Amino acid sequence: MKKFSIVIAGGGSTFTPGIVLMLLDNLDKFPIRQIKFYDNLEERQNHVASACEILLKERAPEINFVATTDPETAFTDVDFVMAHIRVGLYAMREKDEKIPLKYGVVGQETCGPGGIAYGMRSIGGVLELVDYMEKYSPDAWMLNYSNPAAIVAEATRKLRPESKIINICDMPVGIEERMAHSIGLNSRKEMEVRYYGLNHFGWWTDIRDKEGNDLMPQIKAHVKDHGYSLPEEIEESQHTDASWMHTFAKAKEVYALDPDTLPNTYLKYYFYPQDEVAHANPEFTRANEVMAGREKHVFSECDRIAEAGTAEGTSLEVDEHASYIVDLARAIAYNTHERMLLIVPNEGAIVNFDETAMVEVPCVVGSNGPEPLTQGKIPRFQKGLMEQQVAVEKLVVEAWAEKSYQKLYQALALSRIVPNARIAKELLDDLIEANKEFWPELS
Ligand code: NAD
Ligand code: G6P
Ligand code: MN
Repeated sequence: MKKFSIVIAGGGSTFTPGIVLMLLDNLDKFPIRQIKFYDNLEERQNHVASACEILLKERAPEINFVATTDPETAFTDVDFVMAHIRVGLYAMREKDEKIPLKYGVVGQETCGPGGIAYGMRSIGGVLELVDYMEKYSPDAWMLNYSNPAAIVAEATRKLRPESKIINICDMPVGIEERMAHSIGLNSRKEMEVRYYGLNHFGWWTDIRDKEGNDLMPQIKAHVKDHGYSLPEEIEESQHTDASWMHTFAKAKEVYALDPDTLPNTYLKYYFYPQDEVAHANPEFTRANEVMAGREKHVFSECDRIAEAGTAEGTSLEVDEHASYIVDLARAIAYNTHERMLLIVPNEGAIVNFDETAMVEVPCVVGSNGPEPLTQGKIPRFQKGLMEQQVAVEKLVVEAWAEKSYQKLYQALALSRIVPNARIAKELLDDLIEANKEFWPELS
């Protein structure tokens, strides 16, 4: 049986150890001969790499391990690039969140002005990875979950149309797991869904068990009262912080807008921006929570392992949740035709929507990539919202490609989350100043 070689781009990510452990857990389904880490920040990656090297030696010594900042070493002889980079690190995420809040506007990693600012940083970083992959391993596939995935996906569609890159998000996976648990199923894999939207901007329209029984009424009954919150005794493996609990509860209010569908949690930022601002602490945003929580835990535990010389008894956990990445890699490697939600060019999947939009829809995935499943026509409400949002995302990519101040100004002014064009301009000028090192110079 063929064994695969993969490179994890963003080796220094807080998610890397959990993903490595998840890959080890799945070696019977997806055999690996080599894991490489690639990052452009050697110091950060070293912490994670030192621990993972020990872990791999102890648990799977047959896997060759390489950690490097050299693109040629990283991208040569690989079958898959698993990409999760964060251009500008948490320091810039913190600014993406705090700058809008100064104007009373939602400050969020992927939505509104924060997401636009992050998009302007991420596009160049992700395109660089695509180019390395094509230069050194032209047959490889890139599975990208670097954010903001909607904007990154539009950039790859427009600027690297022939490249073998698939953009994917774990939010639907996390929500579906909650839906399944809310009605007493063990796993989301017992469900088959229909869904449409943009990334972090979509709706479930149909959910059935494998026998075809409609599960929507039961799930809706739960969401109507509790959103995606679950009773305390049901434990989830990811999205467990208090701020996430707030998000899952808020889904109840988002659901009320359209009881025919079930919403993605991220829609709360578009429908209740004032609530989110009121709930935010402008001195301590999600970036601060993550730095004080996940980042601190992962890095101190990696350092402890390196110091001890063994990963025995480690508190690093398998990122079960991330097994969707293995499902995707397997679908391509073994032509499994698994059905998964992916971010792909619309091309008719949503019949009455822009063909050139990058949409999130169920796809059948095989060795030649994803084949989107038609979701039919969508109602005016969702269509109106998506037209506006996709225009924002396209304007950001155009602004990046053309280095256009005016287009980015328009993107910000068009965003539902930004209250008016004057604030859009002030925000833009602040964001330009904060992102000098990372954005193309606009004129
Ligand atoms: P992190 O800052 O801990 O890790 C990102 C790593 O990327 C860092 O080590 C950094 O040095 C590296 N990096 C930055 N720019 C780079 C470049 N140009 N080339 C190579 N490496 C580079 O961040 P994190 O919180 O672990 O998240 C990583 C990424 O995964 C983020 O983009 C995050 O938004 C994304 N993410 C996406 C999903 C999804 O649903 N799509 C889910 C979780 C995380
Ligand atoms: C979800 C989203 C990701 C996002 C993450 C943020 O998983 O799908 O796109 O990056 O949440 O989580 P964090 O814990 O970093 O705030
Ligand atoms: Mn996501």
